[in-house]
Amino acid sequence: ASETTGDGTTPEETASEGLDVEEPLVIGSDIPYPPFEYRKENGDLTGFDVSIAQAVFKEEMGLDYEFKKTGFDTIIPSLNNGNFRLIMSAMTIKPERAEKVDFSDPYFTAYQTVAILKNGEIGKLDDLKGKTVAVQKGTTGEGAAEQLKKDFDGNLTIDSYDQITGAFNALLNNQAVAVVNDNTVNAKYVNEQDSVVFLEGEGEAAEQGKNAPPYLTLTVEEYGIAFRKDDDEFRKKVNEALAAIKESGRYDEIYAEYFES
Ligand code: ARG
Repeated sequence: ASETTGDGTTPEETASEGLDVEEPLVIGSDIPYPPFEYRKENGDLTGFDVSIAQAVFKEEMGLDYEFKKTGFDTIIPSLNNGNFRLIMSAMTIKPERAEKVDFSDPYFTAYQTVAILKNGEIGKLDDLKGKTVAVQKGTTGEGAAEQLKKDFDGNLTIDSYDQITGAFNALLNNQAVAVVNDNTVNAKYVNEQDSVVFLEGEGEAAEQGKNAPPYLTLTVEEYGIAFRKDDDEFRKKVNEALAAIKESGRYDEIYAEYFES
């Protein structure tokens, strides 16, 4: 099979040639998780992951694909049970997960952040002590909240919702004082809801010398596409296609569409 080098080789030459990939390629994802995977008002599926899938699978590899909606908490067992070929769901690469799935090269950097109500009772991280925070079940946001609970000697209630929308509703309805979740997803709510803001502060990103967002960060994470453990050949091809869209500028174009407007 030919190499994908981003030097002008056509999709016909690079793609899935010689690979055992059934089309349409089925992609498991927990929807909605804006701006990564969500529906527009007209019902069309959109988002950063959806555009990256189009660029990687369709444009680079010549594969037809479809997204299959699934719960996030059970998404890894669901992949391993054969319900889809891969996961694209703003999923953070974590060692515990890497015991059960293999990840692509990282394709996005994210941070755990704390969304709160404007003019509320929370001004700094410590103010969360004894309060209730809302998270999405099975996420690294839930993990960051659990770490916080330890730091507070157990003085924190964590309400885990099946979908991130449930966590935000809890915040808006005063059932929780904060949502702990990925920064760009929190940012979408912060931008759309006048009453929601980021908890300010420096934190982990600054500590790691990262190009830190201007609000408190609890972690620095990387997203990856997840594959079954027996899917190495395909995973390598996807990594080549990912490298090709980074090289060609297609990745930057998609990034700008969702994060620089
Ligand atoms: N990045 C976080 C994680 O991996 C949250 C991902 C949630 N994704 C979603 N589509 N609901 O745990």
